[in-house]
Amino acid sequence: MKKVAIVYWSGTGNTEAMAGAVQEGVQAQGAECGFFSGEELGSFLPSQWDSIAFGCPSMGSEELEETVFEPMFAACESALSGKEIGLFGSYGWGDGEWMRNWEERCQKDGARLVTSGILCCGAPEEETLEECRALGKALAK
Ligand SMILES: Cc1cc2nc3c(=O)[nH]c(=O)nc-3n(C[C@H](O)[C@H](O)[C@H](O)COP(=O)(O)O)c2cc1C
Repeated sequence: MKKVAIVYWSGTGNTEAMAGAVQEGVQAQGAECGFFSGEELGSFLPSQWDSIAFGCPSMGSEELEETVFEPMFAACESALSGKEIGLFGSYGWGDGEWMRNWEERCQKDGARLVTSGILCCGAPEEETLEECRALGKALAK
């Protein structure tokens, strides 16, 4: 059975709603699903998972959340080469620049992005949640 981790930060719940839909997709495939957020982010070890969905909204100025998520993600990067991953997150007033930069960074790390990064403005609507479920399914296959 494949082991899929969902690793995310969310301040006001929009990215968290996306994470829930990714989890539905993973579980629909019958794969093992780990859920890491908040304080659990400090204990996340990428080597223990077959594939990973990372979620983080656009924060700072088109950046990943800097106090918890960015340090955790930076610590994971050396283990992402060859790993199947997906990215998702919500944004507010920008044009998705943080997601483009994040995808590029993951490609340089040698990660295998199973889909393009999934982004939505504010709270996710059903169409975005369906994309998130599809990401979960793709990571669980
Ligand atoms: C401190 C702060 C910085 C932000 N910076 C950006 C930004 O640079 N670009 C953008 O599009 N949205 C920005 N936002 C908006 C958030 O990305 C948006 O509210 C998002 O829906 C939050 O997701 P969450 O509910 O998962 O926390 C910022 C929000 C906060 C609170």
